[in-house]
Amino acid sequence: MESIITNTIEETVQLAKEFVQNEISGKKIVCLKGELGAGKTTFTQGILKEFGADGPYTSPTFTIVKEYDVDKYEINKIYHIDAYRIGSDDMQTIGWDDMMTNDSALIIIEWPENIVDILPQNTYVILCEMVSEEQRGYTFIADGKITVGQNN
Ligand SMILES: Nc1ncnc2c1ncn2[C@@H]1O[C@H](COP(=O)(O)OP(=O)(O)OP(=O)(O)O)[C@@H](O)[C@H]1O
Ligand SMILES: [Mg+2]
Repeated sequence: MESIITNTIEETVQLAKEFVQNEISGKKIVCLKGELGAGKTTFTQGILKEFGADGPYTSPTFTIVKEYDVDKYEINKIYHIDAYRIGSDDMQTIGWDDMMTNDSALIIIEWPENIVDILPQNTYVILCEMVSEEQRGYTFIADGKITVGQNN
């Protein structure tokens, strides 16, 4: 478990790029857990940039899921899910089963605590934290569990 504080958006993007380089090779579920404005989407944008995905990297606040075709790090599809407004029941409607059966998918989930019922027991958890106006904390837990309420 490693914690890193970034001082700018650019540092967060760079941190996300290094995360991809060091941790992604093939299918993975990455859960970004943290309060509003904690930097979950900004981190995801860094991931998408490292994959060279076609932009714009807008947050799927209303669409719930956004798909990107990529071809790097043994991944051919990135699903960026924002579960802020939904619950586990809604996940079937947006094609969760297909995402899960794709062995070359990277699934990135904001607000994973809202859909904890359908998540595998262990995922790659990144706890995101607002440290100050300009600083964000990121804690990496390679084989973490999502719990509802307080951070793990
Ligand atoms: N070091 C930093 N890293 C990332 N974002 C930062 C940093 N400093 C300031 N910010 C600002 O913090 C905000 C983070 O917003 P972001 O959309 O990434 O949060 P979020 O966790 O996805 O929020 P939400 O729960 O609403 O989806 C942005 O407005 C960004 O400009
Ligand atoms: Mg967000």
